[in-house]
Amino acid sequence: MARSESTIENNSQTRLGISFSEHVADQQHRLSPAARGDLSSLLRHIMLAAKIISRETRKAALVDILGLTGKINVQGEEVQKLDDYADDVMIRNLRYTGHLCAMSSEEHEDIIRIPERYAVGNYTLTFDPLDGSSNIDANVGVGTIFSIHRRISSGPTGTHQDILQRGKNQVCAGYIIYGPSTILVYTTGHGVHGFTLDPSVGEFLLSHPDIKTPEEGNIYSVNEGNYYNWDETARQVIEAFKSGKNYRGKAYTSRYVGSLVSDFHRNLLYGGIFLYPADNKNTSGKLRLLPEANPLGFVVENAGGLASTGTQRILDIEPKRLHHRVPLIIGSRKDVEFVESIFAAAKEKDAS
Ligand code: AHG
Ligand code: MN
Ligand code: MN
Repeated sequence: MARSESTIENNSQTRLGISFSEHVADQQHRLSPAARGDLSSLLRHIMLAAKIISRETRKAALVDILGLTGKINVQGEEVQKLDDYADDVMIRNLRYTGHLCAMSSEEHEDIIRIPERYAVGNYTLTFDPLDGSSNIDANVGVGTIFSIHRRISSGPTGTHQDILQRGKNQVCAGYIIYGPSTILVYTTGHGVHGFTLDPSVGEFLLSHPDIKTPEEGNIYSVNEGNYYNWDETARQVIEAFKSGKNYRGKAYTSRYVGSLVSDFHRNLLYGGIFLYPADNKNTSGKLRLLPEANPLGFVVENAGGLASTGTQRILDIEPKRLHHRVPLIIGSRKDVEFVESIFAAAKEKDAS
C-alpha cells in the first residue's frame, strides 16, 4: 500500500538520516508556509562553507596550512592560517547569496559589507570562522559558530544596527564541529537538531534529532589556570563544584578542551556547565557576545538549558560594540541557576 503524503511529513523532522537541506526546508515551510525559503537557502550556503572548511581542516598538515600567519587580529590574538582560510570561505560563500545585508566576523574589526555587485537581502550573519583554533596544530576539535538575525534597518544596505541586536532576536543559530566526525547543530527556535557529515555522500544527515540537554550534569568546564585571577565569587563557584558542597551534594568531574564548541557540545549532550568568568586579565570576560555567547546561548536555551553572565541572561544583553565581551556561564539549567544563586548572594552581601 502506498504511504500517504502526511505520513511522510510527520516523520520528516525526526527521521534519522534525512538530509540537512530537507530538514531546514521542511521546518521553514511548517513555521511559515508563505516564506520564500530564503533562510533555508542561507543555511544551505553555510552548510557548503562548512563542508569546504571541514575538508581543509582534515588535510591541514598535508597542505601546509597549519601554523600562524604572523598577524594579530582585532582581538589581540595571533591569527592561524586556518582562521584566515575559514574566514575567507565563509565570506566568499555567503556574500553573493542575496540573502544578507551585512556580516560580521570575530576576525574583522568592522562589519563586512555586501559588495555592490551582489543583491542585498533581509538577514545578517555573524560568525566565529574557527573557534578553538589555538588547538588546531594538535588535531583537537575546532568549529565554526554562526548567528542569524532578521534585518531591522531600511536603507540600501545593512548597518551596525542590524548586527548589534540582542541574542533573543536571533532567528537561527548553530555551529559545526570539525572533530572525529563533522557535526552541524542548529536551531530556529523550534528544537535543536544535529547532523553528521556522511563523507560517502557528502551530505549532513540527521543524527541527533531534537536534542534536550540534561537539567543537571556531572561536568564542570573551566580554565582553572585562571584561579588566582578570579574574584572571590568565581572561586567559590568552582570550589562548590569540586568539593561537592553544592545543591546536589555531589563532586563534579572536570573536562576542559579549551575549544568552546567542543566543550559546549560535549556538555550539551552529557549535561554539565561551562564557565568563563571575568578575571583580572579579562575584566569583562574573554568570550565574545555576538559570535560566541549569543549563538550558543540560543542553542542551549532551545535544548532546555541556560546561558548567563552569572547575573544576567546572555540573550537579553544589548550589544554595545561588535567585539563586546561577556562572562559566560552556560549549560544545564539547574547548574547555571545554582551559579546564579551564588552570584546573587555575593551581591547581596556586598550591598549590606
Ligand atoms: P577562538 O579560537 O575563536 O579565538 O576562541 C578561543 C576561545 C574558546 O574557543 C575557548 O573556550 C577559549 O577561548 C579558551 O580560552 P583559554 O585558552 O583562555 O582557556
Ligand atoms: Mn571562538
Ligand atoms: Mn575564532
